[in-house]
Amino acid sequence: MSLKIEKTKSPKQKYSNSEQLGFGKIFTDHMLIIDYDKENGWHDERIVPYQDICLDPSAMVFHYGQTVFEGMKAYKNNGKVYLFRPQENLKRLNKSNDRLCIPQIDEEKVLEYLYKFVDLERDWIPEDEGCSLYIRPFIIATDAQLGVHVSNEYKFIVIASPSGSYYKNGLSPVSIYVEKDYVRAVRGGMGMAKTGGNYAASMKSQDIAHERGYSQVLWLDGVERKYIEEVGAMNIFFVLKDKVITPMINGSILEGITRKSVIELLRNEGMEVSEERISIDDIVKYYKNGELLEIFGTGTAAVISPVGKLLYDEYEMVVNDGKIGKISLHVYETLTNLQFGKIKDDFNWRVEI
Ligand code: PLP
Ligand code: COI
Repeated sequence: MSLKIEKTKSPKQKYSNSEQLGFGKIFTDHMLIIDYDKENGWHDERIVPYQDICLDPSAMVFHYGQTVFEGMKAYKNNGKVYLFRPQENLKRLNKSNDRLCIPQIDEEKVLEYLYKFVDLERDWIPEDEGCSLYIRPFIIATDAQLGVHVSNEYKFIVIASPSGSYYKNGLSPVSIYVEKDYVRAVRGGMGMAKTGGNYAASMKSQDIAHERGYSQVLWLDGVERKYIEEVGAMNIFFVLKDKVITPMINGSILEGITRKSVIELLRNEGMEVSEERISIDDIVKYYKNGELLEIFGTGTAAVISPVGKLLYDEYEMVVNDGKIGKISLHVYETLTNLQFGKIKDDFNWRVEI
């Protein structure tokens, strides 16, 4: 392995109270960097002290958004550190790379570097309930020229942030605004990739949702604005009387690793989970006839996020009296117990570092 490690000579002061961590605000002592150019491919793998990066103002990422990222977590319990399905994140990173014409990474090698990086930062991982080390791998196009073309140079960087809950109020139900005017992605676009532009496209609606007193946006499909896609940083599930439904993977939503895990968990317990095209009108119908029991979102940062209120076209649906539902809580507990090494991992999802 050709990974070079330069340890910091001036370690940062660590947080003193994990309750004040919030999400993604402070960063650990080191970062992992790998460079790419045409001649050498991915090369110069190194862990260095966390620091600014120096880029030419004409670097392509600033102008044309050729960039991808991932989000994963390291969990600590009784001094043991775990990652959850990290192979899936690197696989998805390469899918995003493909969509944005960024060269493929060597998943196996990068996984090894990632393990070394997490091991080096293990003292930064909070052990309190709901806390973890959020890990953010990303790639940026660094060619210094303004023509619109595929970059010849890139930087792959991994940073990490000890974090508490993604939402201020932890596991309490969130309120969601269904966006019917703006769209986030269309099939054939970049919705299936984890790339900055999708999040830039979502901010206008996020602002509107906040102004209306809702915390998140639920996107509808970009063509008919009728079929449910996903929330800003989560996939979405609806618990009905006899089954659980979630939008099918269609090219315009992110194929969430939490989504995939929840589907497997529930099916393994004998529950029917159907991936289908779900129209917002169907959800209103299920709500009106009492069939809609719970809604929850799934994502690495948000884990399982119960939905208490859904606003569509000025019609507000209060789900399960605005409280956490039985299935949402069960899925949250099972998933976090698996992630924190508190229960047996029959699925082989956990990797101990
Ligand atoms: N959808 C979007 C747009 C996201 O940003 C995320 C978060 O990564 C998800 C879904 C959930 O994906 P995962 O469960 O892999 O974190
Ligand atoms: C994640 O869940 O990892 C995400 O990427 C969400 C994020 C955009 C904050």
